[in-house]
Amino acid sequence: MNQDILEGKIGELGLAHFDYFEQISSTNDAAHQWLKAGNKGLYLAVADEQLKGRGRDGRAWQTPAKSALAFSLAISQEKIQIQQPALITGLAAIAICKVLERHFGLAPTIKWPNDILIEGKKVGGILTEASWDGDQLKSLIIGIGINVAQSSIAEASQFLFPASYLEAWLEKAVDRAELLTLIVAALLEDFDQLEGEALINEWEARLAYRNEIVDIVSGDVPQGKGKLLGLDQEGRAILEEAQGQISQFAAGEIRLRPLLAENKD
Ligand code: BTN
Repeated sequence: MNQDILEGKIGELGLAHFDYFEQISSTNDAAHQWLKAGNKGLYLAVADEQLKGRGRDGRAWQTPAKSALAFSLAISQEKIQIQQPALITGLAAIAICKVLERHFGLAPTIKWPNDILIEGKKVGGILTEASWDGDQLKSLIIGIGINVAQSSIAEASQFLFPASYLEAWLEKAVDRAELLTLIVAALLEDFDQLEGEALINEWEARLAYRNEIVDIVSGDVPQGKGKLLGLDQEGRAILEEAQGQISQFAAGEIRLRPLLAENKD
């Protein structure tokens, strides 16, 4: 992957600007800077290696050189139709899944709210960062990380959740520039077309642990168990808790953990 190869591939996608970095702190930082400079439209930052990649809940996200896909799409206000960042995260997850399904024959699922799984192992994640002007959404940054080669998860022991990488499930090497182009194109297409009930339906169709009992965790504190029934129109998880009580949780409030096989009763 390099600037020239990417320019050839993503030239047609209608971006206002794109930057390729051999090494950067975080592509979300590059996107923040681009927006801060007052630029408008769509901006894509792609990095071969991130030194301070960020995940959700303040976690670090590793992107070693030549192994993974790490990019951020910045969108300024006039391009944003969906006003809830949670739904944008869902939309991005759906777009990634569609590419993995259609172009790689995989069957990914979405661990609510932002993880891409293959056979229960995490191969990618999304970090959506929004900036507001009062209650008006000003801009959005969608940061996407995908583990492509084995070396992308070299330090597997650091993960709280089992991780994997795309090439583990395929019999060929994955061209990262190609994968990037496919995902950005799918994302932009869905951005124009997918909203409301259709978005929730596509998300629920790929929702990991649907109708299963999961552990509900807040911070790192267990909050009990619940059955994941689906998602509401805001992209919140609908859970049936112990006494049959149905509750909705927003993405920042809780995380879901699959039950260990031995705890499933
Ligand atoms: C998560 O699973 O917690 C979200 C991971 C998001 C990682 C991507 S890699 C590109 C972009 N830059 C970052 O620093 N984070 C996102």
